[in-house]
Amino acid sequence: MVEKRYKVVFEPEGKTVYVLPGTTIYEATGEAGIIIKGECGGVGVCGSCRVKIVRGEYEQKGSDKFLTDKEMKTGLLLACRTKIKSDIVIEIPISSRLYEQKILTEGIEKELKLSPNVRKVFITVDEPSLEDQRSDLDRVWDKLGQGCPGPRIPVDVLRRLPEKLRKGEYSTTVVLNEDEVIGIETGNKVDRNYGAAFDIGTTTVVGYLMDLNTGKQLAVSAQTNPQTSYGDDVITRIQYANTNKDGLETLHERIISCMNDIIVDLANQAHINTKFIYEVTTTGNTTMNHLFLSLNPKYIALHPYVGVLRSNIDVRARELGVHINRYGKAYSMPNIAGFVGGDTIAVILASEMHKSKDLKFAIDIGTNGELVMGNRDRLVACSTAAGPAFEGARITYGMRASDGAIEKVLITDSEIEVNTIGNAKAIGICGTGLIDGIAELRKAGVINKNGKLLKQEELPDDVPDFIRKRIIQHDKFNASFILVPADETKTGEDILLTQKDIRETQLAKGAILAGYQLLKQILGASDTDIAQILLAGAFGNYIRRHQAKWCGLLPDIPTEKIKFIGNAAGAGAKMVLLAKELRKEACDISLNTEYIELATRKDFQNVFADSMFFPEKLKYN
Ligand code: FES
Repeated sequence: MVEKRYKVVFEPEGKTVYVLPGTTIYEATGEAGIIIKGECGGVGVCGSCRVKIVRGEYEQKGSDKFLTDKEMKTGLLLACRTKIKSDIVIEIPISSRLYEQKILTEGIEKELKLSPNVRKVFITVDEPSLEDQRSDLDRVWDKLGQGCPGPRIPVDVLRRLPEKLRKGEYSTTVVLNEDEVIGIETGNKVDRNYGAAFDIGTTTVVGYLMDLNTGKQLAVSAQTNPQTSYGDDVITRIQYANTNKDGLETLHERIISCMNDIIVDLANQAHINTKFIYEVTTTGNTTMNHLFLSLNPKYIALHPYVGVLRSNIDVRARELGVHINRYGKAYSMPNIAGFVGGDTIAVILASEMHKSKDLKFAIDIGTNGELVMGNRDRLVACSTAAGPAFEGARITYGMRASDGAIEKVLITDSEIEVNTIGNAKAIGICGTGLIDGIAELRKAGVINKNGKLLKQEELPDDVPDFIRKRIIQHDKFNASFILVPADETKTGEDILLTQKDIRETQLAKGAILAGYQLLKQILGASDTDIAQILLAGAFGNYIRRHQAKWCGLLPDIPTEKIKFIGNAAGAGAKMVLLAKELRKEACDISLNTEYIELATRKDFQNVFADSMFFPEKLKYN
């Protein structure tokens, strides 16, 4: 019997999916590949997944806890609390969308001695004769100068060997992955030897197509991680994997299909066939690595936070569903601990912190904040629950860094200037805009050291009127500052920076600064011992360093010591693809980097509380 399905159409793009009765709208958005806000991952407790029903039947429970009567009257409901009961048309308001963001694909480039795992050799073997009755495989193996024991070779590659050899008149291209023959190709195809490196971020996935013969990057392609529909941080995804039927399979399938789309795009850009891609390397945080491999990350989220796997792993890409050459391999970087993964190893590898005599501090501020400090003698890492505030989540008008996002705020003598991405009309505020807005309001005396947004009557006398009149008491959001008035925004609503947003930012920046302070303490270092702060990842790369210091996200050290290293995780994934020796280095980093669990330290709460304050003034420019 064919199961009944309802047609669900999402406006305004008209995307259509067919779902089983009882499916929630939130689940349907995931199936349609539409990414909406959903901070709690569809559990029904955050109130962020707002949608409008245009027509159709549904059953909803508990949306009223998060929405006002007025909002409910306009047809707004929570997607995860609403089940579909007929064919239905749903509108997703601008404010509920997570826009495709500007994705950082560039990272530090290193000179490498090329030594990929995969090499291709063109050979011509002797024709068999009565005088020379060596087998076909012996003939190939002898030509490659290999002795006993014979090669490892998939049996169906072996089955095709006789015809391939004869079709090419005994000339053939042999594809070797270390000591395994993974392909026999007719004619000379040595020049077609490619690999793909992936940085699997919690929010974004970036793939690079590399020529394994020359080390050149041929194409780059990026997408929002489709798992975002199931929760915007690793904890909600782990919960999703363990509280939903087929949860783990769904998350695994989503990341694999995203990678496959990226692989197709890379191949199209470079005009190559995906069958000539022989290896994929991946890096990501420990949870992303687990979901990529379809390993249950359940115990990463439970005391004492242990994953299934720390070391690197090599598997056939096909076993995971990755569409490259059918015998191609997938190599996943090792991890350091449950909350510090291969992406941090990639940052260390690419920045060469592990070889530096000077003390360095690297931060990758993504959905989680991963921090590492040290030099060639000792490296210590930790992760902070910075939360996704800097990616726009949990911020009232927050959004990712895409068109219409306020990315810069400047208060001059006479006005408040904002810049948006793409110079579009403002829709919301992204991480850099948030830092800027708070830093500027702090400098103007509108936010005090404790993070309180002062009322008009509490402001110092020298705060000018054009700033003063932007402070309001909003019906729903209470104390707020109008960053952009309604008549200048795309949504026709004021874009506000609220007291709650400032508190969210304090929690996020406080966690990162506390991590910095404690790592310094463990290494017996002071601010002046830090030779460099390395900012990795998309957010770090667009941040204004001086503003980040005013916001108390970065310590007050000379600004020239703060360097951007771009997508260092992606750079690390490329490095291990092109130079196999670096896989050993990655392993050593994984084993030798000390991990500390910040929350278990007795002094953490005090240091964290101190780190939430904003600075009084800065010593260094
Ligand atoms: S309330 Fe629906 S995703 Fe959180």
